[in-house]
Amino acid sequence: MAVFTPRRPGARASTTPLAEAGADPATPLLHVKDLVTQFPTKNGWLTAVNHVSYELEAGRVLCVLGESGSGKSAMLRTILGLQPKHAHIEGEVVLRGQDLIAMSSAEREAIRGSWVSMVFQDPMTALDPVYTVEQQLVETIRRHDDLSKSEAVDRAMELLNLVQIPSPERRLKAYPFELSGGMRQRIVIALALVSNPSLLLADEPTTALDVTVQARVLDLFRDLKDRLGMGVIFVTHDLSVAAEIADDIAVMYAGRIVERGTVEEIVSNPQHPYTQGLLGANVRPGQDERPLAIKGSPPNLANLPPGCSFAPRCAMVQDSCWGSMPELIEVSPHHDLRCPVVSSAPATGTTTSAVAGTTIGDPVVDAEATGTH
Ligand SMILES: Nc1ncnc2c1ncn2[C@@H]1O[C@H](COP(=O)(O)OP(=O)(O)OP(=O)(O)O)[C@@H](O)[C@H]1O
Ligand code: SF4
Ligand SMILES: [Mg+2]
Repeated sequence: MAVFTPRRPGARASTTPLAEAGADPATPLLHVKDLVTQFPTKNGWLTAVNHVSYELEAGRVLCVLGESGSGKSAMLRTILGLQPKHAHIEGEVVLRGQDLIAMSSAEREAIRGSWVSMVFQDPMTALDPVYTVEQQLVETIRRHDDLSKSEAVDRAMELLNLVQIPSPERRLKAYPFELSGGMRQRIVIALALVSNPSLLLADEPTTALDVTVQARVLDLFRDLKDRLGMGVIFVTHDLSVAAEIADDIAVMYAGRIVERGTVEEIVSNPQHPYTQGLLGANVRPGQDERPLAIKGSPPNLANLPPGCSFAPRCAMVQDSCWGSMPELIEVSPHHDLRCPVVSSAPATGTTTSAVAGTTIGDPVVDAEATGTH
């Protein structure tokens, strides 16, 4: 098992991909076990993350997919130790063999500065408008590593090259408002890479970008993952983005994972009625008609009904669905599902969608577009 050795203050960062440095190959990079995050509200405890478990290996991208309010950001913030003190947190977040939940806040702070970083949706909230790119990068680099100013500027240039910023000397002198949205997001990614993290958390990092820029930033994530060997958790509500970048997909609904598997399995063989609804709500290449939104709205997370949380919206609901929450069970070697109605139904080759009028047989995005295998 890997031993937790926080970097000595002032020690120079390793240039070795941290996913390799000191990691025990038998231990997954990240193991989230039975994670629960609750917030107090006037109506009782709101359960944003509800007994979530998964593993992530170094060099893989897990996309967490779900509608607004399904607990995606709450889960990332819990991993990073960013939840308010009044939140109730249970479970384990084991990164390179060390449980982040059981650590003191000082130990977690050291981890946050070295093993794990996060990229948020809006680059402007992560950048200070009154400082140049150089000032922000150099300050972050010197906070992390014991470097002279000119060494830190060299490292800043290295990072700008890594995130494929054209004319990096010029961009270094720019203020954030002088850069395009895509360029700003690349700077934010460069800031997240200062510590050479083993785990990168990305919360809808391309949602604010237009489609062309989004495609380039997704390419950048793939390139960085391959070159640096990081594990990436990438949150999105957009299945076509997940299909572009993911190795594995976990679909979240009302704080729980309802279906998970490899990208091929989830995109070409979605089985949970909610996942099928998300697929129906996504635009397929060449599709003319409007995508079908999933009817109804997610449940109140402070007052979850017994039984399957998707039951009020599910066209396949049966009496048994209202009794108790189904377990997440393995339906094939790379595919887990939380729906006993579907998993016990005989296979037909195509899956009848729970969204009226759609049949899922072809993947929403063609297999080549996934670019993964
Ligand atoms: N600090 C907090 N205090 C109280 N409730 C919170 C807090 N953070 C999140 N929540 C609630 O937890 C639930 C899940 O929120 P979360 O932000 O994780 O959703 P999400 O899946 O990221 O949605 P979106 O796609 O809109 O970003 C929501 O009901 C939200 O209101
Ligand atoms: S358990 Fe029942 S309500 Fe839930 S998704 Fe399956 S069929 Fe629908
Ligand atoms: Mg969110």
